Amino acid sequence: MIVTVFNGSPRGHRSNTHRIVEPFLEGATDAGARTEEVFLVECDIQHCLGCFSCWGRTPGQCVHHDDMPSLLERFVDSDYVGLATPVYGMLMTAILKNFTERLLPLNTPHIHRDEDGRFYHEGRWKRLPRMFMIANAGFPGGHNFELLKAYMASQDPVLEVYRDCGELLGNLEDLGDPGAKKRVADFYEALRSAGREMVASGEVTTITIDRIHSQFMPEEDYMDMVNRSWDEVDTA
Ligand SMILES: Cc1cc2nc3c(=O)[nH]c(=O)nc-3n(C[C@H](O)[C@H](O)[C@H](O)COP(=O)(O)O)c2cc1C
Repeated sequence: MIVTVFNGSPRGHRSNTHRIVEPFLEGATDAGARTEEVFLVECDIQHCLGCFSCWGRTPGQCVHHDDMPSLLERFVDSDYVGLATPVYGMLMTAILKNFTERLLPLNTPHIHRDEDGRFYHEGRWKRLPRMFMIANAGFPGGHNFELLKAYMASQDPVLEVYRDCGELLGNLEDLGDPGAKKRVADFYEALRSAGREMVASGEVTTITIDRIHSQFMPEEDYMDMVNRSWDEVDTA
């Protein structure tokens, strides 16, 4: 079984997104999967030209000569594919969005309608990976994930991780609040469980999903902490 995560943070290896993906993939590896995290910021991915050559003249093949052919291969060879991103302006980053637009060769132009009346393009491959989403936001609370949830609704995701208070993820050692520190550590443990469960049984239990989304600290406290840390930045 192959699990691949495409990380769309511009911070790459230093990203909070990576801090979430890493334990999740550790769990998946424990359960026997081959795992990979692709840092899209390091890849050469041109913008889609909207020329539809991949649907017409050269079916399944893009006119660009960049890293996408090998990324598409990794995508279709996977059993599970994760899209991982920080929330940027309520959405995914431009890096990840650009990547998703370049997935067009995976589909054929033919339009179908599903049982809910929604239109979709037929896949070029008989079998496509199950999708999951890993997102983190700098704000506290859930409202920042609403657009990503709407985006994922059409993908029948096996798991969605929507982590608020993302700026706590990298500061475990500096975190004065021992309760919050414990909850962040438990979040990482819950991600390991989620990775194991997904590979072992094809789903993640609601207990684990609830653990993943447990509150790190009261929203007001987080606000105060972040605001104070910015006040301390030396702008001279
Ligand atoms: C350009 C930009 C836009 C952002 N927009 C949002 C936003 O709409 N909502 C939010 O909660 N956080 C927003 N953030 C904060 C990031 O989501 C947050 O810092 C996150 O932890 C970064 O994750 P990363 O280290 O994986 O890149 C934004 C950050 C940047 C740089």
